[in-house]
Amino acid sequence: MRIVLGVGGGIAAYKVASLLRLFTEAGHNVTVIPTEAATRFVGVATWEALSGNPVSNSVFDDVHQVNHVRLGHEADLVVVAPATADLIARAAAGLADDLLTNTLLMARGPVLFAPAMHTEMWHNAATRANVETLRGRGIAVLDPASGRLTGTDSGPGRLPEPQDIFDAAIALTQGQSDYQLPLAGRTVTISAGGTREPLDPVRFLGNRSSGKQGVALAVAARNAGATVRLLAAHMDVPAPAGVEVVTVETALQLREAALAAAADSDVVIMAAAVADFRPAEISDTKIKKRDDTADPIITLIRNPDILQELVEVRGMSRRSQLIVGFAAETGDGHGDVLAYAEAKLKRKGCDLLVVNHVGTDKVFGQDTNSIVILARSGSDPQLASGTKSEVSAAIISRIGLELNHVSPRA
Ligand code: CTP
Repeated sequence: MRIVLGVGGGIAAYKVASLLRLFTEAGHNVTVIPTEAATRFVGVATWEALSGNPVSNSVFDDVHQVNHVRLGHEADLVVVAPATADLIARAAAGLADDLLTNTLLMARGPVLFAPAMHTEMWHNAATRANVETLRGRGIAVLDPASGRLTGTDSGPGRLPEPQDIFDAAIALTQGQSDYQLPLAGRTVTISAGGTREPLDPVRFLGNRSSGKQGVALAVAARNAGATVRLLAAHMDVPAPAGVEVVTVETALQLREAALAAAADSDVVIMAAAVADFRPAEISDTKIKKRDDTADPIITLIRNPDILQELVEVRGMSRRSQLIVGFAAETGDGHGDVLAYAEAKLKRKGCDLLVVNHVGTDKVFGQDTNSIVILARSGSDPQLASGTKSEVSAAIISRIGLELNHVSPRA
């Protein structure tokens, strides 16, 4: 395919180098047309080297070739990323004051805009009207992703991930003009890491969860366009940018945070390793070893099952919400991993159960993973394996399908 990649003057222009790579590696011939402002962020030499084609932003270069007519006519697809508020306004007004806007007016094939700007600019009435104008003319304008923006602010306005823009662009050329990021407009709450149940001020009962899977899920959900809340129990890895983080320590704190967050979430994913039991008593002072007393005995009491409670609360409130549980199973002499997982899915009543096969050397803290997704609806178990990011992308994509009531591909 011949693709024109228009680059707007925003800091996210640097991410478009990865998008260009995705296009060229897929065998497409890409001509990059940066705006004047874009060249202040990424130089022409970078675009020429990565695309293998000459780069210009003026209608007065190579005038004998009438570039704006040729490029616009020949392009099978025009992608504009980052589409700044200014560029969207100029396109909506039909201006033709540089090579990119001229080319847009000449384009005969599908056109995709991937916006990036501060949240206030995206919500501004002028931008809203301009986006509606473009959409009304059949131009596909993606919703920006939510998350950390250039300054200290965060919210909708991030450039969607290069892979998502690539997918949207390819979908557009296949006639799917209504393509949207799969979780655009959805709120997803994800618990991650392992809870810690204190015994005294210095000791706790914990588990081996690193939080890597939950964090990878948060990244995948964020990249799929969702607003993400991460309920972070103890984690060995930092929380990703662009998600709201609520820090918890114990199962009881996680329960409170999860019930509050679930109230306005479209999806709740319980990826945290929650302690099933906690010490019946927490000593206010450090428990000392004393020669004159017997060794201490720790009495444990049961923690509430948060996943089960989320399902019950959803049932009572009748809200539509997708609830996803994780099952860490080892299998034993009484049953294999899948048999235990199927029983757990029934017992907990969640919609999807992601099953991990665990052992001290498997899953916990590792970077790769192999899972099975079981569905309450009874569809066939779905397998996924790879890095925790790849597995997370598969889980998030399955969640997108479930939200749209689409059967997973075999
Ligand atoms: N979970 C929860 N609250 C708990 C324990 C677990 O919400 N008190 C959630 C986990 O986040 C996970 C799922 O339930 O999504 C399964 O947890 P797991 O520990 O594997 O199952 P258990 O319910 O503990 O069952 P068993 O002890 O029989 O393995």
